[in-house]
Amino acid sequence: MTAPIIKVKRLAYVRVSAPDLDQAEKFLDKFGLKVAVRLGDTIYLRGCDPYPPCYVLSQGVSGVTAIAFEADDIGDLEKIAALDGSSAIEALDGPAGGQVVRLKDPMGMQVEIVYGQTSLEAVEGAVPHRFNMDGERRREGELPAGQRGPSHVKRLGHLVLESADPRSVYHWYHEHFGLKKADEVHLPEGDAVMIFSSLDRGREFVDHHVVGFQFAVDEGTRVQHMAFEVGNLDDLMGGHEHLKRERYKHVWGIGRHRLGGQIFDYWANPWGVIHEHWTDTDLVNEDHVPSDTLPGEFEDYWGPAPSPRFLVSRWNLKAVRNLLRLFRASKSV
Ligand SMILES: [Fe+2]
Repeated sequence: MTAPIIKVKRLAYVRVSAPDLDQAEKFLDKFGLKVAVRLGDTIYLRGCDPYPPCYVLSQGVSGVTAIAFEADDIGDLEKIAALDGSSAIEALDGPAGGQVVRLKDPMGMQVEIVYGQTSLEAVEGAVPHRFNMDGERRREGELPAGQRGPSHVKRLGHLVLESADPRSVYHWYHEHFGLKKADEVHLPEGDAVMIFSSLDRGREFVDHHVVGFQFAVDEGTRVQHMAFEVGNLDDLMGGHEHLKRERYKHVWGIGRHRLGGQIFDYWANPWGVIHEHWTDTDLVNEDHVPSDTLPGEFEDYWGPAPSPRFLVSRWNLKAVRNLLRLFRASKSV
């Protein structure tokens, strides 16, 4: 594998379009994102952490239209801009300024590499909660301080790209942006089912995965879900009850993943686009040794099995055939 052209620093934002902006904004409000600014017909939403907006919402056909990473310096943008098919370096839209270069990944997804955005002021997040557990008393004389309402989203943490050939898409992201395999699940014959990748920041500990490259059983291409860190377990559970009361569609959870280690809870917006709340992910650095497993070799630490809606983004004959293939592989373990 060749050396990466650059090594990105952070997943910066997603651009999402929805047919009805009011309905989309209402869902995101109940999910726990906050409007940073509206510029024309575009709404820039943020988490509580002091990052620039992580969710850029505009009107259109439902789906994710672009994903963005932050680069370390302007030199990295110049390296990407020099590639065939890349845009020139341009001014970035939105309230945080900065510059951007755009290119297409092998799935046809627009990828934006940004630099020079200004931070925002942090806003108040979830109240920290100490547990009297594991034989230790950390909450002596303190009452739980959580309030009913949406979770407090801190930041965008990761997303999953679905395609018919996740291994070659992963290689492209590795070669261009330095994303590094964290763990892999594959069929006995070698075809990848899921490749988790993390940022490559050397000794610095980073989230177990920033992008997951998943086999799409319908053999389509899309962002299968995007995932946002919330304050803590009570904040996640409170947000779950809030979305349930608001009658949004629950997709999968609550559980703790084996690969990644995070406590997860998946919800769909009114058009079926999956948004994850998570807390307490595994953190890895250059010492992490990726695992190689077959489907069915591992189970989540706890929680329900994946729902059909999570496994299948769109039903077609290929989805049925590939599900059977995955099922047989998991039973052979
Ligand atoms: Fe996820």
